[in-house]
Amino acid sequence: MKTKIYQLDEKNLDIQAIKEAAEIIRSNGTVVFPTETVYGLGANALSPDAAKAIFAAKGRPSDNPLIAHISCIDMLLYVIGEPLSDKAKKLMNVFWPGPLTLIFKKSSAIPDEVTAGLDTVAVRMPDNAIALELIKQSGLPIAAPSANISGKPSPTKGEHVIGDLDGKVDAIICGSSSRVGLESTVLDLSGAIPTILRPGGITLEELQAVLGEVHIDKGLVDKSTTPKAPGMKYTHYAPEAKMILVKGELQKVVAKIQQLAAEQKAQGKLVGILATEETKKDYQADVVLTMGSRSDLYTAAASIFDALRQFDKQKVDIIYAEAISEESIGMAVMNRLNKAAGFNIIEV
Ligand code: TXA
Ligand code: MG
Repeated sequence: MKTKIYQLDEKNLDIQAIKEAAEIIRSNGTVVFPTETVYGLGANALSPDAAKAIFAAKGRPSDNPLIAHISCIDMLLYVIGEPLSDKAKKLMNVFWPGPLTLIFKKSSAIPDEVTAGLDTVAVRMPDNAIALELIKQSGLPIAAPSANISGKPSPTKGEHVIGDLDGKVDAIICGSSSRVGLESTVLDLSGAIPTILRPGGITLEELQAVLGEVHIDKGLVDKSTTPKAPGMKYTHYAPEAKMILVKGELQKVVAKIQQLAAEQKAQGKLVGILATEETKKDYQADVVLTMGSRSDLYTAAASIFDALRQFDKQKVDIIYAEAISEESIGMAVMNRLNKAAGFNIIEV
């Protein structure tokens, strides 16, 4: 398939180009677009065939439901099959548009192919001018998973998407690098206490400030419980190389990684280290990348997926990554690092 590629600027919208891409959505084609979290692989959320095209392009397991992206509240009301609760209204007021996905009972407008047979639908309003204009111009909710080949790190730059999906989708809209850099928080409001099914761009602490008590899905912490978000049970975000996450007191972590890196090097391996600004000078290895600063974990969120892809590009054999604090956005970063490492963890 020939993929049409657009280079657009969020601050100076080319409405004509977006109208063209919206026409592709209206005819049930696939369009990759930027969001503030990661790039999304979009198609008409009301069409079973369009949803199937998304699964085919990514090689995504069919039991993993998609998020419907909306640009206005009328569209939300069209896709959900329940009245808006006070909690949902509060959250939408504070965090939309933004990196928070809410789970609702679905309306009959949403086909089973989008929700993988569940009777609920995940919905969010993205905070990106291109994404919002694309949804608005198409006049349709757009189903969109992250625009990576299934299992790979999510794309935060147009070049990541082109590498994964050129030739597999009808169009790719490249915008700027994703501001947040990891996916939205998925929140389930169906129980008595709101529950995080996937940590993401909106933190536990931010949700608690609005809602009071908030739980974290047991399936995220306890390996013997199945996660409620079907996507959370898969290994994910994995770079080609084996990755090992080292946790513990920082000085010990640095010493352990240095030792392991030296051992691998002696065996002729090409070694990558995922460090932080504070520690990068302490390492000697073939490829040392920093995920950002420990004093501002949002910088780590914004760069981890790009760093994982850079290790692949440089063809390292093994990656050692430092664990960071799980507070605030650190919870989402650590969730992605744990999964990228396939829970291969050394505690020091
Ligand atoms: O930031 C994001 O959320 C990005 C951008 C493109 O919006 N999208 C994204 O989609 O990360 P995806 O498909 O890669 O991840 C969606 C997650 C999966 O873990 C999926 O299982 C979960 O949301 N999910 C979707 N619908 C659900 C539902 N009805 N109930 C529970 N979990 C659901
Ligand atoms: Mg994904």
